[in-house]
Amino acid sequence: MQVVETVDELRRARAALRTRRIGLAPTMGALHAGHMSLVEAARAENRFVIATIFVNPTQFEPGTDLNQYPRDLPRDLAILEAAGCDLVFTPTPEVVYPRGFQTTVTVSEVSQVLEGARRPGHFQGVATVVAKYFNLTQPKTAYFGQKDAQQVVVIRRMVRDLNMPLKIAVCPTVREPDGLAMSSRNVYLNPRQREQSAVLYRALQKAARAYEAGERNPNRLRRIARDVLEAYDGIAPEYVSLAHPRTLQELNNPTDAPMLLSLAARMGTTRLIDNVLLPPHLNTREGLTATLGV
Ligand code: PAF
Repeated sequence: MQVVETVDELRRARAALRTRRIGLAPTMGALHAGHMSLVEAARAENRFVIATIFVNPTQFEPGTDLNQYPRDLPRDLAILEAAGCDLVFTPTPEVVYPRGFQTTVTVSEVSQVLEGARRPGHFQGVATVVAKYFNLTQPKTAYFGQKDAQQVVVIRRMVRDLNMPLKIAVCPTVREPDGLAMSSRNVYLNPRQREQSAVLYRALQKAARAYEAGERNPNRLRRIARDVLEAYDGIAPEYVSLAHPRTLQELNNPTDAPMLLSLAARMGTTRLIDNVLLPPHLNTREGLTATLGV
């Protein structure tokens, strides 16, 4: 496995490739089983697999966890090598944003709701760095996780709007045995918070069961999930959304069409997010890839 830190090295490695079947798994490191599912899908479907490890400062709002964000490059590289990754890009902030950098990618409407409404600038940071990865690596397919469903919608909109020649594949959320979605930020939870954190998935599941029993009223489905969260003292719900999976606009009328049920909650200083598609049978690689975003 080759590890490169500069744009020139990455360009040279990319130019030497004789295949178009390149899979890209962008990450911020602190790898867990969720990331590995992206790398494994990329490995299974391509001749060459590229991963990135970069804690992208521009997607952290001022005063949040940029400095605290877990980093362990030697561990991450060992995991990627064992998973059969071929090339890893591990740039510094100066490599990605050299002096004089002044170009950003703004995906407007789908960035403004949900996470975007609470994390100003976040999706501009994500879209800009991901556009750079796409330009530098020119993959056939890039792999993203369901857990950041809005990120998928934003990136797909960017790919469509800017005619970027690649496919976006979406891999289902990987969960701990109690249902907590894997996230590099789960290490911030203390033992009591970690125990309670499975309630996010329980809230989603309760609404999904109501859906399967025939409930289609968006307000009632949102209420069912919110009531589960509100039953816990240590959890402060930020939003419970039932939205169109392509536009992310909130739904108000009952529908049998696919919906994205997503939520965010704070446990102390840690913010957790999770989501499921309704109907629940869509929460597969194929269902997610066909349903989330344009
Ligand atoms: O999902 C992430 O880890 C990040 O947002 C990404 C896509 C690697 C961009 O920094």
